[in-house]
Order: sequence, then structure tokens, then C-alpha cells
Amino acid sequence: MIRLAIRVAAADAELVLAELLELAPSGVEENELPDGRVEYAVYGASGELPALPDLEAAASGALVEIVTSEVDDDWDQQWKAFHKPVSIENGGRVLRVRPPWEKADSGADQIDLVVDPGQAFGTGAHATTRLCLELLLALEPVGGCVDLGCGSGVLSIAAAKLGWMPVLAVDHEAESVEATIANAAANGVAVTAARFDLRRDGPVPTAPLVLANLLLPLLLEVASAGFDQEPPRLMIASGLLVEQADEVAEAFADAHGLLERDRRISGEWAALLLARHSI
Ligand SMILES: C[S@@+](CC[C@H](N)C(=O)[O-])C[C@H]1O[C@@H](n2cnc3c(N)ncnc32)[C@H](O)[C@@H]1O
Repeated sequence: MIRLAIRVAAADAELVLAELLELAPSGVEENELPDGRVEYAVYGASGELPALPDLEAAASGALVEIVTSEVDDDWDQQWKAFHKPVSIENGGRVLRVRPPWEKADSGADQIDLVVDPGQAFGTGAHATTRLCLELLLALEPVGGCVDLGCGSGVLSIAAAKLGWMPVLAVDHEAESVEATIANAAANGVAVTAARFDLRRDGPVPTAPLVLANLLLPLLLEVASAGFDQEPPRLMIASGLLVEQADEVAEAFADAHGLLERDRRISGEWAALLLARHSI
């Protein structure tokens, strides 16, 4: 097993992370180095890891060095130590996202969500996923939900657990669709998952609630491709850097009458709650 670490200047770290997550969707280990630089690391067998030219392109001018090392036989323990449960709280509700090897916490009123950190993005650890979950927790269900770019299915499963039904999860990657189906089954909730390419497949499926934790270019593509029925009543959009949030809010307001109701920020990342102006 190989540990592939990429070290970058702290000032550019969040931008590099956004690019890296495209290459390593199940997440990267993040370490602050004593000299102030930031290290992102992924683990895998050779051949499964992102290619060096892709990593160099992702880091662009921020790259300081790339370091590969063989990991001990206990790499699986290191992998487990890296994936810890994450608790998200809002509106008096608590959601705890945990990997399967961590026990459920029997705390009262806690919603338990199990996600296997396998091939797909979305363990709940990334700020954009957490911000989406935080906004979702405060909403009262008014029907079905569509999750655009579902990754591991974490947002879809949370929506189903909170009473949004039916839930449709879409992603262009087969691994994400498979991970979502498996994770939904492990959580005992009904989620339909299907492949859909947001860049190519035209107007996107919609429902009263649309979840879209995507990067800026994809969100703008969704705003321009539009919805296959009337726009959602509510939409949570994330995957955005703070300075990109106004552009996305404007795009959905202008094209679909979806107005900003809430904005959450964590570090460099932002998430928006948009609502149809007529409700
Ligand atoms: C930032 S991850 C979000 C995953 C999960 N929803 C979460 O919140 O943790 C973005 C997801 O969008 C998917 N994606 C990227 N480009 C896409 C496209 N053109 N069409 C559909 N899905 C896409 C990726 O495969 C990835 O699973």
C-alpha cells in the first residue's frame, strides 16, 4: 500500500483541495506541517492512485512537493483512524455520520447515518458536505428530493432519514451510484440511484428539494441547463468557495427565481439555501 502526499502552500490549500477531491473523491487526509505548509495524502495500491501529472495540474503553482512512501501493514488501521464520526447539529436535531466500524451512539434524538468510505466522495468529513447537512437538518420535508452528484449518497440518505420521500440520487460515475445503493441499504432507507451526467444529459431531474454539492462550473451548468419540471421549492447548493457564492446565488435567482434564504460558511467553503420566491 502506498501513501501519496502532496504538499502545498497554505494560502492556496483550499483551492488545491477542491481540485484534488475530483481526483480522490473518497477524501484525502489533511495535515498541517510544522513549517505552515499543508499536506494532503491518499492511500492506495499502485495503479489505483491519481497519476502524478494530474496531481501536478491540480496543485498548479501551489505545489511544493509530492512524496510517496510505502505504508506499514497496519495501513488499514491508519485508514480507519483517519475516518472518524462527524456530528452535525441544527434546528435542535443532531445527525451523526460514522463509518461502519464505529459503533452507533445511543444518544437521544440523534440520527445515525453509516457511510462506508469506499470509492465515492462523501464521508461527511468535508466542509461542503457538513454545510449541506446543516442546512438540510433545519428543513421540514415537503415531498421528494433529488441529489445531484450524490457521491457516497450521504445527502440522499440524510434526506430520506429526515422524511423527504421519494429520493432520487444521480451521479455521472458508476462507482457513486453503486456506493449510494449500498449505503442506502446499510441505512435501511429507500433511495433510487441512477447515472446522469450534469454536463451532457440536459435539464436535470427535479423535486421539491434539490441538493447540489458540486463545484462552481457544474452549478453554473445546472443553472443554465435548467430543471426537467418546475424549479424546486428549495435547493441547497454547495461545493463553493466563499467568493463564488454570490455568482451562484445570482445565477439561480435570474434563471429560476430561486432566492437566497440562508448562507453557511466554514473556512473557505460556503453553502446556500435557495427558495422559490413564490413560496
Ligand atoms: C463534491 S462531491 C459531493 C458528493 C456528496 N453529494 C456529498 O455532498 O458529500 C461531487 C459529486 O459530483 C459528481 N459529479 C462530478 N461531475 C459530474 C457530472 N458531470 N454529472 C454528474 N455528477 C457529477 C462527482 O462524481 C461527485 O460524486
